[in-house]
Amino acid sequence: MGKAQHILGVDVGGSGIKGGIVDVKTGELITERHRIDTPKPATPKAVAKTFKQLVDHFNYKGPIGVGFPAIVRRGTALSAANISKAWVGTSIVDAFGKITGQPVFALNDADAAGFAAMQFGAGKEYHDKVVLMLTLGTGIGSGLFVEGELVPNTELGHVYLKNHKVVAEKFVSNYQRKANGWPWPKFGKRLNSYLQHVDMLFSPDLILIGGGASKNFVRFAPYLELETEVRPADLGNNAGTIGAAYYAYRRSTTIS
Ligand code: BGC
Repeated sequence: MGKAQHILGVDVGGSGIKGGIVDVKTGELITERHRIDTPKPATPKAVAKTFKQLVDHFNYKGPIGVGFPAIVRRGTALSAANISKAWVGTSIVDAFGKITGQPVFALNDADAAGFAAMQFGAGKEYHDKVVLMLTLGTGIGSGLFVEGELVPNTELGHVYLKNHKVVAEKFVSNYQRKANGWPWPKFGKRLNSYLQHVDMLFSPDLILIGGGASKNFVRFAPYLELETEVRPADLGNNAGTIGAAYYAYRRSTTIS
């Protein structure tokens, strides 16, 4: 069998589980994106059931890429900031692989979004540089690419902001914005203070803003005061799905 070019990508998030079939040569979704609410509590068993529903919706067989909102090493979740703690130590690839009967490849959700940007989006021109993808959603995810190579699981949403006495994702995520009813200028100023901090720590050539907040980039961009270029991740909220599919493609082709 030849290498499949159309691969299912799934983005497991704190509020929704989204998926779509991606053409991994062009980075385009070739189906409508399908979304199912993340079950509450989001235990491995409950999420695996929802995952299967999503795969069944597409009537899909083949390798599946999964972006997961945790530290992911060799297919296993090692943290759980915005998902049930029962995930810590659970093999994502086994749980989802068993229930669907398909080969599953898992990585951190922001790392997945970063892959999409580097391969098909704003990061394409930066393969010889340092790119930092930050996804602002339920929490903050980060994907760091050094000369085109991913440094996995950087977890920059958990950087402690000394001046504000809080970790970054409690200071400025899209969830925090909505929950507190912050107007865009307030959100923009908070984001600016966080970005200045990570910019100082990593000196990237480009910072990409993805996740739920990215579609409103023009509304908060005026408050960002950085020398470093900051751009919206142009694949928006589909980046995680696209990047997960691309990752499964890369992994499954190196195995076979
Ligand atoms: C998690 C990260 C994840 C991010 C975005 C954070 O709370 O620790 O692993 O990438 O949320 O979902």
